Order: sequence, then structure tokens, then C-alpha cells
Amino acid sequence: MTALTSLADVRAADFDAREEFARHLDSIDELRDLRREFEIPKHTNGNDVLYFCGNSLGLMPTRARTIVNRELDDWSRLGVEGHFHAASPWFPYHEQFRDSGARLVGGKPGEVVMMNSLTVNLHLLMVSFFRPEGRRTKILIEDGAFPSDTYAVKTHLASRGLDWREHLILATPRAGERCFRTADLEALIRTAGDTLALTMLSGVQFFTGQFFDIARLTKAAHDVGAFAGWDLAHAAGNVELRLHDWNVDFAAWCSYKYVNAGPGAIAGAFVHERHGANSALPRYAGWWGNDPATRFQMQLIPDFVPRVGADGWQLSNPPILAMAPLRASLDLFDKATMPRLRAKSRVLTGYLWHLLRTFAPDARSWEVITPSDTEERGSQLSILVHDQPRERFRALGEAGVVCDFREPNVIRVAPTASYNTFMDVWRFAKILAGGGA
Ligand SMILES: Cc1ncc(COP(=O)(O)O)c(C=O)c1O
Repeated sequence: MTALTSLADVRAADFDAREEFARHLDSIDELRDLRREFEIPKHTNGNDVLYFCGNSLGLMPTRARTIVNRELDDWSRLGVEGHFHAASPWFPYHEQFRDSGARLVGGKPGEVVMMNSLTVNLHLLMVSFFRPEGRRTKILIEDGAFPSDTYAVKTHLASRGLDWREHLILATPRAGERCFRTADLEALIRTAGDTLALTMLSGVQFFTGQFFDIARLTKAAHDVGAFAGWDLAHAAGNVELRLHDWNVDFAAWCSYKYVNAGPGAIAGAFVHERHGANSALPRYAGWWGNDPATRFQMQLIPDFVPRVGADGWQLSNPPILAMAPLRASLDLFDKATMPRLRAKSRVLTGYLWHLLRTFAPDARSWEVITPSDTEERGSQLSILVHDQPRERFRALGEAGVVCDFREPNVIRVAPTASYNTFMDVWRFAKILAGGGA
């Protein structure tokens, strides 16, 4: 066991269910100190909860409070002058995320802007990238997508006078399977051919935790002449993304899950640079998407001159108080880096699965519906519980575990590399198996 000196060397064959092994993994985790940068909620017994809900709402970076308070102080001290004289001036506030936001998702600076909320951004980007014309009128999403995406796509179709029953393609997994096969999705896209205008799949599926092959599926869409957009709500800050290299047309994600920027945090949007300079792309415009050089010419220049890059899709001036926590959270991503977080997450999540099999080997009572291949999942395991799912979920809560339940019988657990420990997953597995911890 002690021969293992780096998480990078840990293979599934090394896994050992003894508590001392979990402690050893924590001792060789080079990101272990990152946990101290977060506020960990307490259980009623006074101990830290076992927090596995980073796929829903990530924990608060401790510095977020200081940063938000600083903006409040600047507002009280400076009033409107804060736009240019705050410690972090508000006029260009969003620009400070140009590089860190791009690094998070593998974009180039200028391809990413932080703005609005996720569903809003999906609509705004569909305005530009859903261009129905002639036979090419269809949008493809996965069946069982997050409801907001389904609502967005159906109503977006309706706003263009298209009935979703005719123009929405719902991809389904094979009978008896829960996850999608990439080759099947590619075949579906090929079959849709020149009727397909847009694919808008999840990067990581919220229910099963499946990480889609974004590069292959983007190429498949392009091969038939469609655009490829991605909902990265469960992917951003969770898995390594290379949106620029993968040629993704657009993507949108929220920042309150793995990005840890707070409830309802300001979301992100990516527009590939090959589209960013195309001012002919239709869009809903607002003054903040206008070239900043002429933004304050106001009524003198009534024509919209979009700023090149993703910034050109902004509508309104940034909500500073809501945006401030992003500074704390993205600084931590820059400190930890996505490759190191992902390397830890692979071992953390794989170890959890190993422990479940060891502590609760009865295959009749539960099954993990997340892909078993590490490369096809992120931090989440979705555990389908056959035997008393609600009771087991309740028992987890009583024992100080925070995770979530998706009807009718799935417990989602997200060991998050930023703040979860190997002892957290060890304790979780013990509690779920009914052995206490
Ligand atoms: C996959 C997915 N899409 C869309 C949303 C909706 O996000 P918002 O409320 O920020 O628009 C969520 C929220 O959890 C989500 O998980």
C-alpha cells in the first residue's frame, strides 16, 4: 500500500477496502489542502457532513464572502464611480473571467463569457445556431434530458412556428440499456442527415452521469451539415473539456454545481472563434454585447456593433454581486487545474464503486447505472436502489450524508475532487451498506 506515492499511480487493481487504505489515499492526495478553502456544512452532531451534492450545488469557497463584501463596500463608498474606480471595476467586470472561464472548458480567451443563467443562454444561443431552412428543421436531444432543456427546445421550436412533434428528434438508449452508445447516436445523426439543423446533447447526463463523446458527436453533426451545441451543466468543472479543439459550435453551463460559484450563480457560454467574428449571425442583442469602444455613445450610434467573440452575445450589464463569487471559485480552479482535479476524481469515484461492491455485494439490492468505463463518466455515480430506496436515502441523511434522490429510485452521489476525501467515500459506502461508519 505504501508503495503508492501518487494518485496518478493508483489503478483499480490496487483498491483495498480497509480504512487505512482510504487514509493512505488521502495522505498522497496532492489536492488535499484544497478542502480548507471551502465551507463544509455541519451535521446536527457537530461533525462535517459527508457532502456529495457537488453535482447539484457546490460548496462555498471561503473567499467568496470577502469578495462579495468588498463589492458591497465599494458600492457604499463609491456609488456610480464604482463602475470605473472599484477595486475590481464593474464596467469590465466580466472580462476578468475571459482567461479563467476559457481554461475551465478548454476554450480560447474570447470564446467564453460568463453571463445570465443556463437556460437563458441556451435560448440565446439557439437564436443564433438553430437556423431552420428548407428540409433542415430538426433538433436532436437525448430522451430524458434535464426538463429545462426539453422545455427550452420545444418552446424554441414553437417560437419559430415548428411543432416539436415533427421537428424534435429524441435519442433513446437501446432497449434494456440506460446509457447511450456513441455509435448509435452517430447513426441516428447520419439518418437524420440533411433534415438535422442542430444537436443539443448533455456533456454529462444529469441522471446517469454518462459523459458523452463530445468530439465524435460534434463531428457527426458537422458531417451532416448541422450545428452542435452542448449543455455542460454537469460537465463544467467536473471533466476535462477541449471545446475549441473539439470544434464545438456553442455550449452553455451553470456555475453552481462543480464550479462552486453559489446558488443561481452566473452561467457560462462558449461560442467557437469561427463564429465569434460573424456579425451576420442573427442574435438577440443588448448594449453589453456591443463593442465597448462605442457602448456609451448611446443614442448617437443606434446600430448594434457586436463585440467579436462570445462577449458579443451579452445583453445586460453584469450583476456584480451575483458574479463576485465566481472570482473565488475560478481562482481555485486555476490553482488546482482541471487535469489534477480530474486525475483525483477518477480515483475517488472508482474507489467509491469498489467500496460499494465490497461492502454491499448483494447485486439484487442495488446497481450503478453510470458507465463503468472511467472515461465515460465524471464524478457522479447514480445508484439505482431496488430494495427500499427511500428508506435507504433517509438513513443516509440521518447519518449526516448529503446526496440526492431522483424519482423513482436513484440515489445520485458526486464525490467532488475539490473538497471530498477518500475517507468521505469510505464512510459513505459503509453507511449505505448499513454498517455505520
Ligand atoms: C442539465 C441541466 N440543464 C439545465 C438546467 C437548468 O439550469 P438553470 O436553472 O440555471 O437555467 C440544469 C439545472 O440543474 C441542468 O442540470
